[in-house]
Amino acid sequence: MNRVATTPITLGASGLGERTGAEVLADALLESTVGNIDTSNMYAQGRSERHLGDAITRSGGIPTGKLIYSKADRDVVSGAFDGDRVRRSLDESLGRLGLDSLPLYQLHDPYTITFEEAMGPGGAVPALIALRDEGVIGAIGIASGTIGQVHEYVATGVFDVVLSHNRFTLVDRTAEPTFTLARELGMTVFNAAPFGGGTLANGASTYGYQEMPADFAAHLARVRALASEWSVDLAAAALQFSVGSPLIDTTVVGVSSLERLGALPSLIDSAVPDAFFDAIEKLGPPPASGND
Ligand SMILES: NC(=O)c1ccc[n+]([C@@H]2O[C@H](COP(=O)([O-])OP(=O)(O)OC[C@H]3O[C@@H](n4cnc5c(N)ncnc54)[C@H](OP(=O)(O)O)[C@@H]3O)[C@@H](O)[C@H]2O)c1
Repeated sequence: MNRVATTPITLGASGLGERTGAEVLADALLESTVGNIDTSNMYAQGRSERHLGDAITRSGGIPTGKLIYSKADRDVVSGAFDGDRVRRSLDESLGRLGLDSLPLYQLHDPYTITFEEAMGPGGAVPALIALRDEGVIGAIGIASGTIGQVHEYVATGVFDVVLSHNRFTLVDRTAEPTFTLARELGMTVFNAAPFGGGTLANGASTYGYQEMPADFAAHLARVRALASEWSVDLAAAALQFSVGSPLIDTTVVGVSSLERLGALPSLIDSAVPDAFFDAIEKLGPPPASGND
């Protein structure tokens, strides 16, 4: 099992290239001392990696100690996600980023293939293992959102890293058994979307990019009421819940703008009393937030 170096916060670049100001944001992400960067072949149709590559060129290379992690994606037209596609995906990622290797390349959202296809001869996972053996990538991971699927891949024991999103937050603990298994296997654990895709920080009406079931929305309303009662910044509490968990190596936060990037240090440092987290636990286990 190859360990991956991490920072407590990883800067999520899924939105890089979706809004104006991407060049400036890419430069800021690259220079930021807050953490490493998470991107993927298909984020913003490849523009996320391309903007990061351009920022690397502008700065004359990646700053010392900074790591950029990326992910293999299916062919967006055909849905193909076999070993050949993984190799093409890596070539595309390295080309856009202007790099010849990556510290981590993950199998991203393998929804168009079965587990058996992914693991079998000619499949995506044997290709990732071969690329790791060849030294082009330092470590391999499974990065996906359906926790049952993530658990199945984690249990193979062949991955170095797991990334799950929206399922280990102040209001959702679905990923806990999977992260516990990953820990037992010695894997590095990436917990993405600590704000549930935004709602715990910006008050958006969706959770994990989906409409909330009514009982989950009611639970979230109780959490918001507690935060207000305790005068706690819910975004700070949500971030600190993940960063402070012994199950998590790094928390991947979506950074949509310079303003959001600038706010991160104070969210990490803002005082949130332990008793507030105890009060959240006393609400009991959260209801399911979506379909898993
Ligand atoms: N399958 C996968 O591999 C996978 C899936 C999901 C996510 N990820 C990774 O995880 C990262 C994080 O996911 P995510 O962005 O979906 O969810 P998130 O981190 O839970 O939410 C991020 C959003 O919260 C809002 N926000 C951030 N800081 C804020 C602040 N200080 N105040 C108010 N609002 C704030 C921003 O939205 P606004 O600016 O619009 O308000 C931001 O886009 C992604 O970028 C990606 O790198 C990976």
